[in-house]
Amino acid sequence: MTAAELFKQKFPDITETQRVFCPYRICPLGAHVDHQLGRVTGFAIDKGVEMIFTPTDDGMIEVYSCNYPGTACFSMKDELTREFVWGDFIKGAIVTLRQKYDVTRGIKGVIRGELPVGGLSSSAAVIITYMLALCSANNITMSQLDMVKTAQAEERDYIGVNVGKLDQSCEIYSRKDKLLFLDTLDDSTELVQAGTDMPSYEFAIIFSGVERKLAGSAYNTRVDECKSAAYAMMAYAGMDYGKFEEAHLRDVPVGIYYEYKDKMPMNWSKRAQHFYEENARVLKGVEAWRQGDLAAFGKLVFESGYSSIHVYETGSKELSTLYEIMKECDGIYGGRFSGAGFNGCSMAIVDPSKKEQITAFITERYLAQFPERKDSFAICYCKSADGVKLS
Ligand code: GLA
Repeated sequence: MTAAELFKQKFPDITETQRVFCPYRICPLGAHVDHQLGRVTGFAIDKGVEMIFTPTDDGMIEVYSCNYPGTACFSMKDELTREFVWGDFIKGAIVTLRQKYDVTRGIKGVIRGELPVGGLSSSAAVIITYMLALCSANNITMSQLDMVKTAQAEERDYIGVNVGKLDQSCEIYSRKDKLLFLDTLDDSTELVQAGTDMPSYEFAIIFSGVERKLAGSAYNTRVDECKSAAYAMMAYAGMDYGKFEEAHLRDVPVGIYYEYKDKMPMNWSKRAQHFYEENARVLKGVEAWRQGDLAAFGKLVFESGYSSIHVYETGSKELSTLYEIMKECDGIYGGRFSGAGFNGCSMAIVDPSKKEQITAFITERYLAQFPERKDSFAICYCKSADGVKLS
């Protein structure tokens, strides 16, 4: 059922509605570096979260989901504590927005997410969707950067995952067919136009069949390992350092890493290695995109995938298997697991004329190794898209 259909069913008397569509994102290069103030790239895709809504004057929230049972139904005057249900995301949006804005009007609405959860940053898309709907209901105008920061703050402080700004930025700034290049150090962005020789491409999204949750995963442990590496290197090098929570690998020049990498515990050293190498890959990748050199860009994406698995040491056995299969598959320019890597999906940049054979090749090989994933494994193809829109 579509969001509009369910809305009609739940609120038959309401005819005046608004719509938010927030796309999901993929990040071909620049994985696991945003929380260390690194450089990233990304696209929004033409699949995402849709919400049909109307404002309420009495401060009530009444939201239904096409994907999950139950209702998020409460008064905004109540204490908005987390209950570990899907409705937490709208509570968190209200709590976080209220730190800066006056949010008194509520919403009635229906939300619907496409595709299985995991790896495409559906959590950021849901948060941005709620925030935009609430902003519209309360006449709040926010800059794009403010929206990125507020959505990130909800995920960090209310949901409890120490994320960077990658997901929110891709889902807000992106423009169709352009590669988003973001430096999370100073929030500068560029929408990079592909060179004229760029062959046509689409994205394959390959679901491992295992859904993923970031909260409670090793995501926060990896962030702490990066910070520990940064702190240790600053101490070895006699650099000034402040609070541990404010230490980032970006604060430490790469030369210092080469000088002290063998003194640190191996795990910390590997996380730092991934950071410096991934940042360099992003710069090369952006240039390859500018030149229209998809083969070079794709090769870097494969290298990034390798580093995420073997150096940053994330990714499940399912995602590692998909990585090896993608490397062998004709028609794939480059691929890697998508997002944080705690199950979920992989992404690949593909030649659109070879989609059928790619699907057959990957499905056969993957299910031979994971037959138990037969019903939940899936491949879909999508294109790049614009960032979030309210209409
Ligand atoms: C998740 C986080 C992002 C980023 C990626 C890995 O999607 O939300 O901030 O760290 O993982 O690149």
